[in-house]
Amino acid sequence: MDTFLTIASRREIRDYRPDPVPDDVVRRLLDAARLAGSARNWQPCRYVVVRERGLLDRLAETVSRPSNLAGAPLAVCVLVQGPGPRLFDAGRAVENLLLAAWNEDLGSCPNTFTDRERANGLLGVGDEQELVTAVSLGYPSRAREPASRTADAWSARANRLPLDELVDWR
Ligand SMILES: Cc1cc2nc3c(=O)[nH]c(=O)nc-3n(C[C@H](O)[C@H](O)[C@H](O)COP(=O)(O)O)c2cc1C
Repeated sequence: MDTFLTIASRREIRDYRPDPVPDDVVRRLLDAARLAGSARNWQPCRYVVVRERGLLDRLAETVSRPSNLAGAPLAVCVLVQGPGPRLFDAGRAVENLLLAAWNEDLGSCPNTFTDRERANGLLGVGDEQELVTAVSLGYPSRAREPASRTADAWSARANRLPLDELVDWR
């Protein structure tokens, strides 16, 4: 898919089919995250891939919208460690992962932890690490068709503030 069409057509997907996501596809998403640049190339992100149903269900109880994880066949939890603007770096890595997923016809959504302490315990997050998000992933229950519109048409429909409100040209 054209890069701008991927960006413009992507929306968060919160309802997934139970079908498993093939390992090679998961690896490609993780590679997209790995390839993101980071300050001084410190590479602060680490990833925990969760596919075990029981663990996904327990993790679901630690995020703000449990059904996102309880209904997903897979989650990628993102941790940061070490120095630098690591949340900025994590944002870059996660966006790469989300866009690569969309390019593979996969839906996804970042999830905010509401019980981080319990999530840390479930995932074995180290003292020097910080849990950033759990990205729920799966094939959308309702098929999406990015190619059904142009990138400009997707952009015009997006629930976003207009550029004129966001940008100051000097
Ligand atoms: C840091 C961050 C945390 C988010 N946490 C959640 C969440 O806990 N649950 C959820 O359903 N969506 C979550 N989202 C998704 C946002 O609600 C979503 O990006 C926004 O509403 C735009 O959605 P759209 O791209 O489908 O228009 C999160 C997004 C970000 C960037």
